[in-house]
Amino acid sequence: MTLATEASRCRIGVLISGSGTNLQAFIDQVRDGKLPAEIVLVVANRRDAYGLKRAQAAGIPCVCIPHGDFDSREAFDQAVAAELDAVGVDLVILAGFMRILSASFVRHFEGRILNIHPALLPLYPGLNTHARTLEAGDTHHGSTVHFVTEELDGGPRVLAGRIPIDKSDTPESLQARVQDVEHRIYPQTATLFATGRLTYRDGVAWLDGQKLIDPIVRDFE
Ligand code: GRF
Repeated sequence: MTLATEASRCRIGVLISGSGTNLQAFIDQVRDGKLPAEIVLVVANRRDAYGLKRAQAAGIPCVCIPHGDFDSREAFDQAVAAELDAVGVDLVILAGFMRILSASFVRHFEGRILNIHPALLPLYPGLNTHARTLEAGDTHHGSTVHFVTEELDGGPRVLAGRIPIDKSDTPESLQARVQDVEHRIYPQTATLFATGRLTYRDGVAWLDGQKLIDPIVRDFE
């Protein structure tokens, strides 16, 4: 399936919880014609998510669905899914969305949800990745884009951006450097999906018809 033609541009829904710098990278790349897609909806689970302002400034429809308004994770997820289904999305982008999604949500959007995690997965799933890589004395760190499955940060990996760790690095400096990498590799991965080159089948990521056993790794400074 090729989604790149004007008539069938990939329709992206972006889920955020905070600052939304990755969302901004998507907005910029769509605007500049580098990402052949349309961001049709931004959903935040926090009213103070700055990414909502970014969406508004770009004229992108956005909605806030505070998770605290719901009795259960499933009820919140159903409300989010209903918003995405109402506009029709080909791809769901998790961009700093700090909620674990229920199995039913993941199944509903199977093969069309991507996440970016600030570590070289499978290293350091979960939180505090920058501090953990420093404590371990690693030589490299980075970020990984992967399909979302029911296993937290465990779905098929697609593209990783790798940076060397300097002696002077702190968790804060690593965060800034990793985010810079994310703003490049995440829209690039979405472009692969939007042009039909990247697909998901049988629990595996496929690129140009070949199984991606290991992610593509790109090195950055
Ligand atoms: C990113 O570093 C991403 O890896 C993680 O959350 C952060 C979101 O940052 N999942 P932002 O909201 O896109 O600025």
